[in-house]
Amino acid sequence: MSTLFRTKTVEQSIRDTEEPEHKLRKSLSALDLTVFGVGVIIGTGIFVLTGKVAKETAGPATALAFVAAGLVCALAALCYAEFASTVPVAGSAYTFSYASLGELVAWTIGWDLILEFALGTAVVAVGWSGYVRSLMDNVGWTMPEALSGPDVADGFGFDILAFVLVLLLTVILVFGMKLSARVTAVVVAIKVTVVLIVIIAGSFFIDADNYKPFVPDAVKQPAGAGLDAPLVQLMFGYEPTNFGVMGIFTAASVVFFAFIGFDVVATAAEETRFPQRDMPRGILGSLLICTVLYVAVSLVVTGMQHYSELSVSAPLADAFKSVGHPFYAGVISFGAAVGLTTVCMILLLGQTRVFFAMSRDGLLPRFFSVTHPRFGTPYRPTILLGVVIAVIAGFTSINELATLVNIGTLFAFVVVALGVLVLRRTRPDLHRAFRTPWVPLVPILSVAASVWLMLNLPAETWVRFGIWMAIGIAIYFLYGQKHSRVNEDGERKPVS
Ligand code: ALA
Repeated sequence: MSTLFRTKTVEQSIRDTEEPEHKLRKSLSALDLTVFGVGVIIGTGIFVLTGKVAKETAGPATALAFVAAGLVCALAALCYAEFASTVPVAGSAYTFSYASLGELVAWTIGWDLILEFALGTAVVAVGWSGYVRSLMDNVGWTMPEALSGPDVADGFGFDILAFVLVLLLTVILVFGMKLSARVTAVVVAIKVTVVLIVIIAGSFFIDADNYKPFVPDAVKQPAGAGLDAPLVQLMFGYEPTNFGVMGIFTAASVVFFAFIGFDVVATAAEETRFPQRDMPRGILGSLLICTVLYVAVSLVVTGMQHYSELSVSAPLADAFKSVGHPFYAGVISFGAAVGLTTVCMILLLGQTRVFFAMSRDGLLPRFFSVTHPRFGTPYRPTILLGVVIAVIAGFTSINELATLVNIGTLFAFVVVALGVLVLRRTRPDLHRAFRTPWVPLVPILSVAASVWLMLNLPAETWVRFGIWMAIGIAIYFLYGQKHSRVNEDGERKPVS
């Protein structure tokens, strides 16, 4: 039993990263964090999911869904920042929970993060492919439906572009190429410019009639939708509906995807010059900027085209085509394609690093944490996961993937918020570069808000998530628990 709750000491976590070549410089300012944040956050969520969500679940009220999802994230962000700055080791919720909540929780969250990052990569790749197809369309090439993915094709659909993108990025990561700060800044600038073009140019094409009604009346879901319906509606015995007020929350649970990535910002606490001041500014600043942009974009797009006519694969660009401006559509598709490439790459990188960390701790086979002799990259998990993700991206509908990513991420938020509470009790002595305000209120609200969004996800997403987690727990008991390299007193066992 005791092994389930053994923790890796904070001191051990720090020792793991202390070799001089792994020491991170404390150089980031609030502005750097904000730019980085916006760079990771803006992606498929706003560029793609907006279309489907407005069309099928919330209409023009999608803007309100973005506000709701943004609030949930802001609460979680305040908890993440404390967690990340207390265990000053670059890494993710996996590392933090190993140091505070014990091995089983750490494993669970690590396994959950693999889901978040791996499928998140797939979602962004599919979104990217939609915009590349829209761009190709502009110059008169049309991809056959069967190669455009399951969301577009009627029968068999394989998204060849998404598949190829993930494989290419995998190769790049194996060679250890990094996005330099300058490239990131340029890409962020392109992305934000494109979003601003949508907002400013698009506002000239708004037809107020498209906003009527702003919150469309609730409509019964087609019979037999069954597990498609949000869990909360099934639990309380409502007749499952789309649109209406409940539709706003269903929509929020999907567009929540658009905010994923700020949790990655929290992991840069170690590299931040004045974390207590700059972490919240950086995280909340990037969240605020994104929320404002998202609300504006969704208002403009649903104003340009009636929600029922929005495109589901490249809605921002296609809205401009619908008002007879293919040129703008081309510029937007180009910017989206450039911007989404980096988001995809960052998620894929995050994914391989979590897998690597779990393997280094012995919870997954150590085979995976042997780095490449020349490139120094964790090439084994990178290749394995890259190929799996590429296949998933090719064959799965973006909505199914996104909701699964969301449930996984929200679950991580719940654990992190609880982690803040637990750690305040068990290790009050630890230095916290950033402290969550109003503890325990903020963490409790964060848990409640995250659980509420989770309940608004389809029942089938819960089933899939349950299966994934059950597999994870089984692997832990069959493998990880026995092979863990952290021993009873929280120190690392020598390699045998
Ligand atoms: N938030 C990122 C996106 O929307 C992951 O693509």
